[in-house]
Amino acid sequence: MAKIILGSAAALTAALAAAAVAGHHLKVSGKWGHAESLASDGGSKLKMLISYVDNLPSGDEKGLFYALDLGGTNFRALRVELGGKEKGVVNVDSEEVSIPPHLMTGSSHDLFDFIATSLAKFVSSEPEEFRPLPGRKRELGFTFSFPVRQTSISSGTLIKWSKGFSIEDVVGEDIVGELTKSLERVGLDMCVTALINDAVGTVAKARFSNKDVIAGVILGTGTNAAYIENVNAIPKWHGLLPKSGEMVINMEWGNFCSSDLPLTEYDRALDEASLNPGEQIFEKIISGMYLGDIVRRVLLKMAEKADFFGDIVPDKLRIPFILRTPDMSAMHHDTSSDLRVVGKKLRDVLEIENTSLKMRKIVVELCDIVSVRGARLAAAGIFGILRKLGRDTVKAGEEQKSVIALDGGLFEHYMKFRTCMENTLKELLGDEAAETIGVEHSNDGSGIGAALLAASQSQYLGVENS
Ligand code: GLC
Repeated sequence: MAKIILGSAAALTAALAAAAVAGHHLKVSGKWGHAESLASDGGSKLKMLISYVDNLPSGDEKGLFYALDLGGTNFRALRVELGGKEKGVVNVDSEEVSIPPHLMTGSSHDLFDFIATSLAKFVSSEPEEFRPLPGRKRELGFTFSFPVRQTSISSGTLIKWSKGFSIEDVVGEDIVGELTKSLERVGLDMCVTALINDAVGTVAKARFSNKDVIAGVILGTGTNAAYIENVNAIPKWHGLLPKSGEMVINMEWGNFCSSDLPLTEYDRALDEASLNPGEQIFEKIISGMYLGDIVRRVLLKMAEKADFFGDIVPDKLRIPFILRTPDMSAMHHDTSSDLRVVGKKLRDVLEIENTSLKMRKIVVELCDIVSVRGARLAAAGIFGILRKLGRDTVKAGEEQKSVIALDGGLFEHYMKFRTCMENTLKELLGDEAAETIGVEHSNDGSGIGAALLAASQSQYLGVENS
């Protein structure tokens, strides 16, 4: 028994200490390196990629547009009908398709052909009245949620994969070119008018209905943020000065790494075993793809070193990613007095029978520690953006409101994570500044945002439909 307590306590304390500091060390924006990477590529671990989105949708956009959203284990095809200022987004049809795992690490040809075939099937259900006029093409906004070096609003090369994808043959290639070849192969007459990241789409979608929106944050399978920057603050931008004077920056904050990050042996082991060791460290301690696996790794150590589950180490605990973040969230939110949900998850997912209430309580505490660290760090990231923009303090005589739009399954479904993230942001800002900052859920920015940007970039802008 003593061994159990000692072993589990040691594992927990390490993680707890890490969680307690998370957020505070990163309060100073200089530590993030925003400015360095706006000055030159590779200036810091943040990529600060230029999105070429310098003109956010105005609300006047009208017509039928398609969107393709690729960034996790599923992709979605959407058909969005826009009705201009009066009607806004009139109708959205969508279809979700899960990507067979072998395509995530195979060849780009196979992946894009699979996507194009599914998209063609979706397009074939298009109502008669929406068929494009003769001589016109359907237009598509493509949300590709991986780091891309854009060469225009509708083209860009893949820098690297993340989130479990690894298809070497397309790294460094033009993503739109690859998709277009597949669209041609399946005979789909469609052109990509906007290539965007999901965080950028979230800004576009949220800004469409709320002019106070200054940034979009994704907390889902992966994590990232995009924000609206003054073009004069981007020395590496050598293009024309946009009319708006602004440019959306895709931060790729998931790649942030610093000695200030509270990393533990579990994080290091997870990183080493990943498809992209040494990369996306911030993402690996915050996002939905990884949180459940960190919990699994701590439980495994507790089982091995402290007989936490008795004499035998449960076999299933050795299987990477078997404990998913939604399972962790369900255990964390268990409100039953005997922690029945925790018992059921341990049994159903990990085949661990007969757990005591005391053990189940420790499991909940572990979920809390791991999620609190992630949530506090996410809040620190948002605070960093606000500080970079000088919006973290209230200036006398100014009534400036700033809204951060959030999206992603972790934010949407993991309530304790969300609450902790929001509370930490208030804590970092202080009462007065917190009053001027809003956090809103912007649903489906990655889908609808892409359609809106496809519309605002349409080659038929101003051309009547009939
Ligand atoms: C990963 C990708 C990034 C994306 C994020 C959220 O961090 O690199 O481009 O925005 O996941 O999907």
